[in-house]
Amino acid sequence: MCGIVGHLGPQNSVDVVLEGLKRLEYRGYDSAGVSFISSDNNLKIYKKKGKIQNLIDELADKEIHARSSIGHTRWATHGGVTDNNAHPHVCEDMGIAMVHNGIIENAGELREFLIGEGVKFKSETDSETFLGLLIYNVKQGKEIKEAVIESFKKIEGFSAFVVLNKETSEIFSIKNGAPLVCGMNEVNSEVLVSSDPYALAGIANKIYFPEDQVLCHLSAGNANLLNFYELDGSKSTRYISKSQSMDHNPAEKGEFEHFMLKEIYEQPELIRSLTQFYFQGEGKESLEQAVDLPRTNLHVTACGTAYYAGLVIKDFFEQINRIPCRPEVASEFRYRDPILNKDDLALFISQSGETADTLAAQELCKKTGMKTLSIVNTEGSTLFRDCNVNLLIRAGMEIGVASTKAFTQQVLTGRTLSAVIANGGMDDNLKNSLATKYSLLAERIEELLERSDEIRTVAGEIYRKQGFFYTGRGVYFPIALEGALKLKEIAYVHAEGYAAGELKHGPIALIDEEKVNVALVGPELYEKTVSNIQEIKARKGIIVVVGPQGKKDLEEIADYYIPINFDGLEELSPLYINVVNQLLAYHIAKFLGTDIDKPRNLAKSVTVE
Ligand code: F6R
Repeated sequence: MCGIVGHLGPQNSVDVVLEGLKRLEYRGYDSAGVSFISSDNNLKIYKKKGKIQNLIDELADKEIHARSSIGHTRWATHGGVTDNNAHPHVCEDMGIAMVHNGIIENAGELREFLIGEGVKFKSETDSETFLGLLIYNVKQGKEIKEAVIESFKKIEGFSAFVVLNKETSEIFSIKNGAPLVCGMNEVNSEVLVSSDPYALAGIANKIYFPEDQVLCHLSAGNANLLNFYELDGSKSTRYISKSQSMDHNPAEKGEFEHFMLKEIYEQPELIRSLTQFYFQGEGKESLEQAVDLPRTNLHVTACGTAYYAGLVIKDFFEQINRIPCRPEVASEFRYRDPILNKDDLALFISQSGETADTLAAQELCKKTGMKTLSIVNTEGSTLFRDCNVNLLIRAGMEIGVASTKAFTQQVLTGRTLSAVIANGGMDDNLKNSLATKYSLLAERIEELLERSDEIRTVAGEIYRKQGFFYTGRGVYFPIALEGALKLKEIAYVHAEGYAAGELKHGPIALIDEEKVNVALVGPELYEKTVSNIQEIKARKGIIVVVGPQGKKDLEEIADYYIPINFDGLEELSPLYINVVNQLLAYHIAKFLGTDIDKPRNLAKSVTVE
C-alpha cells in the first residue's frame, strides 16, 4: 500500500528518496511523487501516475541538488489514479508539501469547512484536507510545528503524515495507527522518515519507532537532528530506538533472480538460529513471559498466510498441550462479537505487525482485559507495541510480497512456545531436543532446495492447466490452503486448498483433464488420502503427489511424484512439504512470466480493512 520516504542531509536528498521509494515498490502502488527544496530555494514538485520509473524519467534531465525531500507512492483509495491525485500535495505560496498514508475518515466535513474558509483544493483525495488544515492554521498565524499539531488533532482515522517546510528546510511527521519510522546516520548527519524500515536499511544506523501522536521533527545543521514532541509541544520519550547494522542490506537479491526465491533459500539458516534466540539470546525473557500468560482457551487471529500458520499452531496447542484453540481470520473476528473471557489468551500472528484487521482484533481483545500475545516479525510495529508479550520470529526483512520464510518462522515460534509449556518451562534438555529437531528440518529443506530443478520440471509440465486443487488431511490441510494461496497470488491461476476428504462434497464436479490435484500425503491417514487421490484420478484429473518416498502405489497413481523423506520430522513435516509448494508456485509463476516479487493488485502490508 502507500509508501512514504523523507530525507534530510548533505547527500542529494532526491536520490535517497527515490531509492527509498523504489524499495517500497513491493508494497504495491499506482503513482509516485516527490517534493524537494532546490538549491535556489524553491519548493519543487513532480508526480506521475504509474511506475516510479516514470517519475525518474521525468527528473532525468534536471539538475537537482536538494538537501531535503519527501516522496510518496500512492495506492488509490479516494480519487482516481491521476498525476494530480498523486502525492505530495503542495501549497507553493506557503512553501509547504505533504504526503499521507491511511484514510482521513472525516475528510468530507473538513473539506466543507475549509472551502468555507477560502481554502482551494486541487485534487479529489482525502489526503489534501490535511494540507488544507495546514494552510488554514498557518493563515491563523501559527508556526509550522504548531500548525502540524493542530491540523493533526482534527483528523479522524488511521493515518501517517509527513510535511516538508521550505522556510526552515525541516520535516515533520506524525501518525495515528499507521506505520512510521525515523532513522539517523550520525556520521553523515542524515535523518530520514519512512512508512517502512526497509527504506532506511543500509542508510541509517539508528532506527526510531515513535508511538501514536508523537510529533517527529527532522532538522539539519544542529546537534539534534531528530526530536520528538508531545501534542502539547513538550519533549516526548514515547519512542523505541535501536541500532541497525549497516553491513546487511536486505535490498540486495544477491545471486537470486527474485527476493521470493532468496527468502525461500534463507529458511534453513533462520530455522537453525531460532532455539538459540529463545533459549540463550534476547528472546528468552519474552518466551518466559509468554509461558506465564493465562490460557484457558487460545484465540488465534491473523490474516492470509499468517492465519494459515495459526492453523498449524492450533494443532500443536490442541494435540500437544490440549489447550482449546479458536483460530479465526481477523476481518471476521473483529465484527463477530466473539465470546472472550479474561482467562483466555489472544494470540495474533503477523509478519508486518501492521495489518489493519489484525490490529483491530487485538484492540478488541485488549478492551476485554484479556492478555494479548503476538508472534510477529517486525520489532517496533504497531502490533509489537500494543501486545502484552511479543514473540519475534526473527525472519529478517521479507520483501517478496508472497510470504514464505515468515510462515515457517511463525509456525516454529508457535511450536517453541507449545514445547516450553508442555515441558513446564525452559531447560537445556528441551533446548537440545528442539535444536536437534529444527536442525533436521533445516537439513531436509536444504536437500529439497537442491531438488529445485526437479520441481521446476513438474511446473513446466502443468503450468498451462486451468485450475489447481491442493489437498491434504490433518496437519497437511492448512498447508494445502497455504500452497493454493501462494500459487494464486504469484501465478494468477485459480487454486483452492481443500481437506482431502471434502472434495467429493462438491468441488469434484470441477475435475477434468484440465485440473491439477496437488495431493499432500503424509504418513498419517495414508490409505485414506490415497483413496481420495483415486477419486480425482478416476475423473481424469492430473495428479501431482508430494508424499513419502519409496511408495509404489503413489508412483502408480501420480502423473508426477515428488517423493520426500519424512523420517524423524514428526509434527514439523508440514513445514517441509510447504517448501515444495513454495518452489512449485515460484516455478509455475516463472513459466507464466508474472511479476513474482510484486504481484498485481497485492500489497505487502495491508493497512486498510
Ligand atoms: C500471502 C501474504 C498475505 C499476508 C497477510 C497478513 O503471501 O503475504 O496473505 O500473510 O496479508 O500479513 P501480515 O502477516 O503482515 O499480518
